[in-house]
Parts: sequence; C-alpha cells; structure tokens
Amino acid sequence: MLSVVIMAAGFGTRMKSTTPKVLHTICNKSLLEYVIDAARKVSTDIHLVLFNEHAKIKDYIESKYEGLNFHIQNHEKTPGTGGALMDKNKNFLNVSGKKVLILSGDTPLLDGDELLRLSQSNSDMSIAYFKTSTPFGYGRIKQEQNISIVEEKDATTEERAITLVNAGLYCFKASVLKACVPLLKDDNAQKEFYLTDVIKLAQEKGFKASLFEVKEENLYGVNTKANLAYAQDLMLKSLRKKWMEVGVIMNMPETIYIDSTVSFVGECKLDSFVAIKGSSVIKNSHIKQNTIVLDSTLEDSDVGPSANIRPGCLIKSSHIGNFVECKNAKLSGVKAGHLSYLGDCEIDEGTNIGAGVITCNYDGIRKHKTVIGKNVFVGSDTQLVAPITIADNVLVAAGSTITKDVKAGCLSISRIKQTDIENGFFKFKELKSKTF
Ligand code: UD1
Ligand code: CA
Repeated sequence: MLSVVIMAAGFGTRMKSTTPKVLHTICNKSLLEYVIDAARKVSTDIHLVLFNEHAKIKDYIESKYEGLNFHIQNHEKTPGTGGALMDKNKNFLNVSGKKVLILSGDTPLLDGDELLRLSQSNSDMSIAYFKTSTPFGYGRIKQEQNISIVEEKDATTEERAITLVNAGLYCFKASVLKACVPLLKDDNAQKEFYLTDVIKLAQEKGFKASLFEVKEENLYGVNTKANLAYAQDLMLKSLRKKWMEVGVIMNMPETIYIDSTVSFVGECKLDSFVAIKGSSVIKNSHIKQNTIVLDSTLEDSDVGPSANIRPGCLIKSSHIGNFVECKNAKLSGVKAGHLSYLGDCEIDEGTNIGAGVITCNYDGIRKHKTVIGKNVFVGSDTQLVAPITIADNVLVAAGSTITKDVKAGCLSISRIKQTDIENGFFKFKELKSKTF
C-alpha cells in the first residue's frame, strides 16, 4: 500500500501574511486542497503534517474532507522538512504504507497522473526533479557517485549555477525512511533537519536512488505572494484549456477568469473579461463581455455585457442585458435588458422588465421578496417596494412606485399627473418675452 505524507508545517514566513500559507487560495481553492485532491487520486492513506496555525488549518480541512490523518511536528526540537517526518522520538512517523509519497502543501499544480507514475517506480527512492533556467530558491541536484541535494542557502557559487533542481516530491520505500530519518542532523545554514539529507544517508547505507523528471509548472512552489499570483495564472491556463476541450467557446481566453469550483455544461460561450466564480454552473449560455457570475446557475440564457450576477441566482431561458444586477433572483423566461436591480425575487415566463426597474428589497433591517407572475410588463424606472406580489398579465406603467400587491389582469399606475404650465419656461427664467 502507498501512504502519502503532505508537509504543511512550515511558517510560510516569505508569504508575509496572517493567513497560513497553505490556506491561501488560487481560483477559489486553498493550496492545500489542491494537494490533497491530487493525493487522493493515488492513495486513501493520507497524512498531513502541521505545526504553525495547526488548529486553524485542521478545522478548515476537516470541514471539507473526511478520513485524513493529522500529525503535529515538534517544531522547536525538530524544525525542517526532515523534522516534519519525525515523531516525538525522532523516528519516522507511524504510517502503514510500504511506500511513501512525500508532497509539500505549497505545490498546488500537482498532476495526479504524474504522482501515479512516480509512485509506481520500483526504486528505493525516487526524487522528482526538473531542469529550469530559474533555479533560485530550489535545492540543486548533484549527480556525482551518489545523487545528493544541496540547499540554496548551503550551496557554493558553482553549486548555485546548477539548473537541475529538487521538485520537493519524492517516493520512498518506508524502510528507507525508517532507517534514515532518525539519523538526520541539523548541521546546516538553516539549523534544520533536511529531508533532502535522507537521500545521501540512504545511499551510504546501500539503498538505490533514482531521478524522476516532472514538468516544472506542475511542481511550481508558492513561497511568496508573487508566487501565488503566478501559480494562479498557471492554474487559469489549465482550467481554460480543460473547459475549451469540453466545448466552451472563449473569446480572448487570456482575459477570462474561472474558479476551479465552477462548471460548464453543453455549449457555452464566454466573451472577453468575463469572471465565473464560486459554485456557479453555466449551461448552454452566452456570458457577454465584462460580466461577473458568482455562486449562480444559468441555463439557456444570455447575460451581459457588464451584468453582475450575485449569489443565489437561478436564471433560465432569459435575456439579461447590460448593467443589470441580480441577487438571489429566480428568473424563468424573463427579459431584463438594461440597468436594473433584481434582488430576492421570483419572476415568471414572458415577463419584461423595463430599463431602470428596481426591486426595493431592503427596508434597512430586513430583506423582502418580490414575486412577479407570467406575461407582466414592468415599465421603465419602476420601483417595486417589497414584500410585493404582481400577479400574471399585469401592466405596470413606467415611472411607478408600486407598494401594494397587484391583481391579475390590471394596469397599475402610480405617478403624479402631468401638468403643462404655459410659458412656464420664460417665467422661470424671469424673461419678459421670448428672446430666441
Ligand atoms: C524544499 C526543499 C528543496 C526543494 C523545494 C521544492 C528541503 C530542505 N528543501 O525547499 O530542496 O527544491 O522544497 O519546492 O526539503 N515544512 C514543514 N515543516 C518544516 C519546514 C517545512 O512541514 O519545518 C513544509 C512546508 O510547509 C512546505 C514544505 O515543507 O509545505 C517545503 O518547505 P519550504 O520551507 O517551502 O522548503 P523550500 O525552502 O521550498
Ligand atoms: Ca517551498
């Protein structure tokens, strides 16, 4: 059996944040969740090593996953990636697998297939590496008689020029870790127990090491906020590619933002500068330029340009035009072409919402609901003061403020009668007579 150990006990100092590093998100999912999801593709025996902010991280992860094993590193006595693998007595952690895959909690772009291939290797230890033109920050791999890894901070100038780097991903036979983890020492620049030293120690004991090439972008490690932004760019590229392969059309894909938590069904079209976020599901719909959709479901509809679809909307067979804001709106067969706020409402088939219509849903204390039936025409610049129900086949005159329920079949009008005062213009301007 294969066990997976995910190291996430570091301080993340370089992140300069009050949020634990591994709980920072890219595309709406924490770094650690991406790593756990990849690990779950290869094993059911997953161990997380925590220390810094361990209660916060554990609570968060336990709200999302079941059946994970947690270990708290004794950071004072055994700091470092090697220390992360030690129990109280400096022995290797109690895991049941004969093979152990070791991952870092800060590499969100891991590829499940790559992990599977690495874990199938028969070597005593396989070390994932890649060649890079920017080796800064990584441990460098030296291939002499034995394979060894020298950390950037301990490296000589010549060693720093090495472009083969340790990806921070390994598959060990458990027997190697049991034999060598207790032998680790902290005699290095950082005064830490380095997991990477296991490799040297194990070869001295006669175990065999092999290198396993991985793609640099899959092992991209997040240490700083600049790294976080770059990791998100990489993630977005891969999400766009995945959804385009499924059949989504994207206009200027590099401008489109998609969370990893959204999904698309059927043939959808996304115009430039669109953002689809949260738990949104988009089915057979066209999302036009500059539109934001958050935690909402759209079906057979076209939305935007510049529409703001906020949480809780279910929009079916509808046309939502520019500068329309919807929140918790259930719309079916509705047209709302321009400049409206539709919040906490249900609107039925064949209904037209004129420009500038507002559902006044908030009285300053509570939110109230607006219900509009079938084939209703709501004239432009109407305010619907909720709670309110407009029945089927109603005509609401433009410019009305509707405060009471309207029965089926009515024309509802609520506005001051127009008065035209002759020559009022000139009187107002204090002019004796027409001068132009
Ligand atoms: C590590 C490797 C380096 C490799 C790089 C790849 C070591 C000594 N160095 O360096 O060779 O190129 O990853 O990204 O292993 N952690 C703990 N406990 C600790 C310290 C760290 O659990 O006491 C965890 C961190 O939370 C993180 C992971 O181990 O998830 C890596 O630690 P980090 O400090 O980022 O190591 P690097 O300096 O990146
Ligand atoms: Ca790192």
